[in-house]
Amino acid sequence: MAGKKSYYITTPIYYVNDAPHIGHAYTSLACDVLARFKRFDGFNVHFLTGTDEHGQKVEKSAKAAGLDTQSFADRVSQNFRDLCVTMNFSNDDFIRTTEDRHIRSCQALWRRLVAADQIYLGKYDGWYAVRDEAYYAEDELTTLEDGSRRAPSGAEVEWVEEPSYFFRLSDWQDKLLEFYAANPDFIAPESRRNEVISFVSGGLRDLSVSRTSFKWGVPVPDDDSHIMYVWLDALTNYITAAGFPDEESDEYTTLWPANLHMVGKDILRFHAVYWPAFLMAAGLAPPRRVFAHGWWTNEGEKISKTTGNIIDPLQLVESYGLDPVRYFLLREVPFGNDGDFSRRAMVGRMNGDLANDFGNLCQRVLSMINKNCDAKVPSPGDLTAADDKLIGAAQAVLGQLRTHLDAQAFNKALEAIWVVIADANRYVDDQAPWALRRTDPARMATVLYVLAETVRHLAVVVQPFMPDSAARMLDQLAVPAENRSFAALGAAGALTPGTDLPKPEGIFPRHVVESEDAAADGGAGAGGKA
Ligand code: MSP
Repeated sequence: MAGKKSYYITTPIYYVNDAPHIGHAYTSLACDVLARFKRFDGFNVHFLTGTDEHGQKVEKSAKAAGLDTQSFADRVSQNFRDLCVTMNFSNDDFIRTTEDRHIRSCQALWRRLVAADQIYLGKYDGWYAVRDEAYYAEDELTTLEDGSRRAPSGAEVEWVEEPSYFFRLSDWQDKLLEFYAANPDFIAPESRRNEVISFVSGGLRDLSVSRTSFKWGVPVPDDDSHIMYVWLDALTNYITAAGFPDEESDEYTTLWPANLHMVGKDILRFHAVYWPAFLMAAGLAPPRRVFAHGWWTNEGEKISKTTGNIIDPLQLVESYGLDPVRYFLLREVPFGNDGDFSRRAMVGRMNGDLANDFGNLCQRVLSMINKNCDAKVPSPGDLTAADDKLIGAAQAVLGQLRTHLDAQAFNKALEAIWVVIADANRYVDDQAPWALRRTDPARMATVLYVLAETVRHLAVVVQPFMPDSAARMLDQLAVPAENRSFAALGAAGALTPGTDLPKPEGIFPRHVVESEDAAADGGAGAGGKA
């Protein structure tokens, strides 16, 4: 570990009561791309994902499935592990909140809060939404015609009266506001930061942090008639996986505070208000940053189990291929905004950006080298201003990607790569290497070398987004494994003239629209909504 900067990044842990869908895949994909990027950039990365297995919602779902709760949790948790394989996620750990390491960590955190006089025993009389696992005040609810009440998320609420331990959240209003002011990058994007600040400025009530009416949770230390509120338990996973309560360990001192918690906009309040308050109250450091991304709809409709329009990531990958799906999800919508999934937009990106732009560039360059340069890396002569310009653009892209990815602007990062792809395609047309073959073979070799070097740069920087496709491109350029990190960009890993190259093969096939796709196309494409 010594010498390398560490980067600890987390996804939310997924409730084990639903099948994995596109929304789950999206959060983890964003983290995976960042994790891979940072690894290629020389960081010691720890990428955490996992499952959130306690709470009333899971207990109810298990009952409905006719299984004991642990077996149910085991089964659904495995589906999320399988999702990691399907999507080629490079997570370093997969935490389950039913593991011993986590129960120990939750109980240690609880004891710290008690010791700091941040928890007291009282009684909760109020509304609770099992679907959100959240408490709501009367004035946050809408009453329907039948008299039932709904949370702002649309979830049904029930009246709860039970003994409960409370966390002194009301003590933390000013300290949180000071913390946000001193750490302007803590919450992103800006609009979400403003929402959180206005929520906290409106005043905070003490938070109920234990339940007594069911058993599926972490027992409260020294009072096992209570179990911990599932959000206190779930949030703690981020420090459990960093080695808490062993605060002196190398693991904890290296990993905590986390660099980034990636979350959906629906769970920002838990991460940006409750979590830093719990941590500060226990004398622990808050995470460095929380980014709240937007939500996907399906062909314009809200994704929901009830309407049955859930998009299964496995089916998407079967229909379009893994890397096109990874590319689409991060390219189509400015990260942070809501977006709509449509087959038409997916196919448009596959055939346009991937097959026509990037795929065609690689194919043209590699097959010209194969045919005209004896299938070896060509030997360049003196470079012209146009050659320098293209290579310069390819080399400059890493700096742009660092800036965009540190701001979680995945779409901008991909746009920056595609600017160079467009430059390279224009350069091919301008230089017309096929015509130089007879008139000036030495110049043809230079042009093809410049292009091969450009494709090498593009393939190296696109690896975090499309690992398999990029690997195939790098194989076709015979780039050795040790030259695939960002340190080998520029002259350090330049292609060696004379190196034998394998026979080129297409990387991004066109997607032929079948009748079912065409029917679903309907007309409108997808796009981000501001
Ligand atoms: N268990 C909690 C998280 C605890 S973290 C300490 C939870 N789980 S969840 O499975 O319901 O949701 C996990 C993530 O998926 C959330 O970040 C949520 O925003 C995201 N998505 C769920 N549906 C989504 C879409 N339709 N679109 C994009 N992301 C969405 O919340």
